[in-house]
Amino acid sequence: MPLTIPSPIAWATDHGIRILDQTRLPQEERYLELHTVEEVAEAIRTLRVRGAPLIGIAAAMGVAVSAGQRGSGEAGKNSVEGVREACHILGATRPTAVNLQWALDRMRRRADLAAMRNEELYSALREEANAIWEEDRRMCDRIGELGAALLPSGATVCTVCNAGALATGGIGTALAPIYVQHQAGGEPHVIVPETRPLLQGSRLTAWELSRAGVPVTLIADAMIASRLRLGDVRAVFVGADRIAANGDVANKIGTYGLALAARAHGIPFYVAAPTSTIDAASSSGAAIPIEQRAPAEVTGWLGQPSAPPGVGVWNPAFDVTPAELVTAIITDRGIVPPKDVARVID
Ligand code: MRU
Repeated sequence: MPLTIPSPIAWATDHGIRILDQTRLPQEERYLELHTVEEVAEAIRTLRVRGAPLIGIAAAMGVAVSAGQRGSGEAGKNSVEGVREACHILGATRPTAVNLQWALDRMRRRADLAAMRNEELYSALREEANAIWEEDRRMCDRIGELGAALLPSGATVCTVCNAGALATGGIGTALAPIYVQHQAGGEPHVIVPETRPLLQGSRLTAWELSRAGVPVTLIADAMIASRLRLGDVRAVFVGADRIAANGDVANKIGTYGLALAARAHGIPFYVAAPTSTIDAASSSGAAIPIEQRAPAEVTGWLGQPSAPPGVGVWNPAFDVTPAELVTAIITDRGIVPPKDVARVID
């Protein structure tokens, strides 16, 4: 992890967690302490914590928080029911990132095991959340090592949204190869589309890459095709919220357009994701639930209207890039063609 980027999540006192409030970046580096499952759910829903892997980690920690608030008794029936209720609340926050359900399934199983063994529930759940976090950190490192081999030294690359340290438990997914190359002295340069409507590209990716000392060129989303046409972008690296068994990829809205532009200009399009993002139960992208968000995210910014009152709005948070537009998927278990992605988790 580049030491210059603050961790987006940590444990806090009194069985709580501390998060970097990403809605305040880049203006303000503000931290919030969360002490109830409802507070953690609100933070995920409003994107104070965000990014598929980090949502999973935050939810896992939120389950432990709920057990901590109920008291540190033994793992009895009521406590396990409390865990199920916490998982239900947290699981309803955001539908597309499969890492959320993946992490909550693990927490449910750990609670059942704790009850069977009569273990103290909070400690057992905190340990499991730490394991999920640590595994994600290691998966990011591995993605970084593997992906860096695809990145020519000194290359200009393009990304979208934020799939970096702010979105994971480690150095990121799409940004991991860039950090690995940067730390090895390879001097990558990153084209960052601002990523409307919530500007995760300009507010978060430009911020964390700049903090790490990686050169960035910020563009508006409408400039992507023209920028790729210039001919100097050697590769596109994006993250994923869910990858279907056939290799279709759900990621931040705009990813599909970026993939089309990359194909039109002969630029390799790589998706970087940990195995926790692969959903073998979704046979294709058509089965992936796409989160629809509030019209207000499109009709205004920072409390100022940018559209007439009452205008109709379509605001999906994600799109699906068909597998045929993806050059390869970089996972912690290897780089695979999209059609083979489900084999990685067999
Ligand atoms: O709505 P967000 O900000 O949670 O969306 C995040 C993305 O789309 C990321 O690209 C994805 O979660 C991968 S993060 C490693």
